[in-house]
Amino acid sequence: MTEGLRVETDAGVTTITLARPEKKNAITDAMYGGIADALGAAAADDAVRAVVIAGDGADFCAGNDISMFADGRDAVSSSNVGPFLNALTGFPKPIVAAVTGRAIGVGVTMLLHCDLVYVAHDATLVTPFIDLGLVPEAGSGRLLPERIGHVRAFALFALGERLSGDEAATLGIANRALAADAVLPAAMAAARALAEKPASAIAATKRLMRDADTLRAALSADREAFLRQLETPEAAAAFAAFAARKGPR
Ligand code: COA
Repeated sequence: MTEGLRVETDAGVTTITLARPEKKNAITDAMYGGIADALGAAAADDAVRAVVIAGDGADFCAGNDISMFADGRDAVSSSNVGPFLNALTGFPKPIVAAVTGRAIGVGVTMLLHCDLVYVAHDATLVTPFIDLGLVPEAGSGRLLPERIGHVRAFALFALGERLSGDEAATLGIANRALAADAVLPAAMAAARALAEKPASAIAATKRLMRDADTLRAALSADREAFLRQLETPEAAAAFAAFAARKGPR
């Protein structure tokens, strides 16, 4: 059991729920470790055929817990972020995301590693890395422009523009936008349908569609730049502003 995380397996589907609603499901080091472990267990268990990632409460995920960023480069570099990203990008079975409310930072970039994404019409997706003095992470510096085009991705990263759930579906970040209360049921139904399909064909299809070398290259491209940015005065000021509740909300 990891604080801030719920992991349940039923009918061939493991559901990983970010369960820290009082902090808008911001992800702590322990939660990253718990997700990595849950994905590792789901990968190893033949009875698990798909994974759903969801958030408890109204919001999907407010991104990385900013206090971890504020602890600096060494804390982040030795944290469970690396194992989380390795587990996510190397996961051999389908991952389905259910996104309602706000998805921020890694709450958006993790979606680029999911295989199906259902989103609420009125969800808000935002990747405010540059406002925090940081660079896009989780390979998103390459994966997001590939998905939605350079100028749109740049506006999200650099201007901090937001996407609604409807826009995310139109741009191909999500499969479909739905009423908020229909999002988790749609994700569960899709995961259960996947659990009934021939597992080896799904795994082989996922391997064909997501080249491991390309993903590793995308991850290592932004890792060093991200760690470097953590040490800049601009990043320190942004983390301090958030801690002092003066930052952009
Ligand atoms: N890291 C740490 N704590 C966070 C957090 C984060 N990423 N996001 C939210 N929280 C905490 C807040 O500090 C607050 O804690 P408190 O109740 O102890 O004061 C609690 O979650 C609720 O957030 P609050 O800001 O009061 O709610 P809101 O509805 O006004 O705004 C957000 C919600 C998500 C828009 C806002 O909290 C926010 O901008 N968070 C930062 C998002 C971010 O920049 N993430 C990093 C991306 S790289």
